[in-house]
Amino acid sequence: MKIAVALSTALAVTVSAFDKNIPWGKRDYPCVNVFQGIPDNSTVSRGAKIDIKFNRAPTTHCDDSLAKYKGEAYSAWLYNNLSRDRDNINFDQQVKVKGDIAESDGAVTITIPKDLPAVDDKTVWYLRLDTTLSTAPQMPSLFNAAGPFTIN
Ligand SMILES: *[C@@H]1O[C@H](CO)[C@@H](O)[C@H](O)[C@H]1NC(C)=O
Ligand SMILES: *[C@@H]1O[C@H](CO)[C@@H](O)[C@H](O)[C@H]1NC(C)=O
Repeated sequence: MKIAVALSTALAVTVSAFDKNIPWGKRDYPCVNVFQGIPDNSTVSRGAKIDIKFNRAPTTHCDDSLAKYKGEAYSAWLYNNLSRDRDNINFDQQVKVKGDIAESDGAVTITIPKDLPAVDDKTVWYLRLDTTLSTAPQMPSLFNAAGPFTIN
């Protein structure tokens, strides 16, 4: 039964943890650093207010060729059960929690919505903070993804 063994190995790979630093699309770069936010594997409550602090300092995830371009207003999004299928990002729920965040602020307070949609697994929420560089060639997006964490 060699074929059965090979199939189950392939399945094990697809359910491995979501890699947060891999871009979500062709012109998406992991160039936003969140240095205060929701820790991995932590638990937050609906209605909780959370201070997020961020910058665009160069990191090992990101080369700094885009550093000279200013980011447009940032947005913060919650995603439940992110997974990757080749080049596609899949998720069970997506909720925008905040928009119009100025890059120059470097900080934002988000509120975990009280009326989140029902999910099958409340331990696999992620927070994506992203922006676009409208003056850079091909208008790339920059992001940070944090998680997984639990929302109670
Ligand atoms: C979160 O949990 C995963 C899986 O148990 C573990 O690999 C990872 O190191 C944990 N991260 C932190 C920051 O505790
Ligand atoms: C999470 O997503 C994966 C892949 O789309 C799916 O197979 C799995 O059933 C989902 N988990 C839950 C708890 O819904």
